[in-house]
Amino acid sequence: MHEKLAQCVSRHLSQPFRKPYVQYNRDALDASLAGWDGRAPLILDAGCGVGHSTIQLARSYPDHWVIGVDQSEDRLNRRKPYPEALLPRNMVFVRADLVDYWRLCCDAGLQLARHYILYPNPWPKIGHLGRRWHAHPVFPFVLRLGGVLECRSNWRVYTDEFAVALALASGRDVACEDYEAATPLTPFERKYRDSGQSLYRVICDLDAVVAGASCAMRPDGAV
Ligand SMILES: C[S@@+](CC[C@H](N)C(=O)[O-])C[C@H]1O[C@@H](n2cnc3c(N)ncnc32)[C@H](O)[C@@H]1O
Repeated sequence: MHEKLAQCVSRHLSQPFRKPYVQYNRDALDASLAGWDGRAPLILDAGCGVGHSTIQLARSYPDHWVIGVDQSEDRLNRRKPYPEALLPRNMVFVRADLVDYWRLCCDAGLQLARHYILYPNPWPKIGHLGRRWHAHPVFPFVLRLGGVLECRSNWRVYTDEFAVALALASGRDVACEDYEAATPLTPFERKYRDSGQSLYRVICDLDAVVAGASCAMRPDGAV
């Protein structure tokens, strides 16, 4: 793990992040909620890539509204494993930068039921620490969205760091565990599994820890 991880996470938990929003991300938030009835529990597939996981999640949770977000229009537009007519109706794909999208969700007062960060770009070089989601200034907003947060990676350092960052924010023990992908949820998961690589994940029910957590994890930001 990166030696500056704790310092970096603590700084982001204690300092405001005020990067201005880009209009297309505001539009993306509106588009992602246009088909939502305002009542169905929300699932966010953050960095959904080609969106296979979003489709699978929408099929697994038919009473939820599932949002797949990726910054790559090209990936979002790639052919899906089902014909258009067979795609679940309880989901939507939007192109957005998560750095804005997550914060806009917080501003809108949204709370998630489930939140997936599946095989994020690892940014493995030492100088890349700040680009890993748990060491990015947007991380406290990810936590404020609540729900069951799950991160998977084939790079153990990423999930170990993710668990440490979550533990720092919540004051609770959070563990990284080995993961067997019997039914891969994403193309990256399938690729890594089929090439014999080990997979890891961190799962944390943020709603269960929020009561005793630091202000960074409270939905209202209050101490
Ligand atoms: C390694 S891919 C994993 C895709 C998918 N979750 C999977 O497992 O197959 C990481 C994805 O995160 C997306 N991504 C990276 N940074 C992003 C950002 N700031 N906003 C939105 N998407 C982002 C990339 O476009 C890419 O599709």
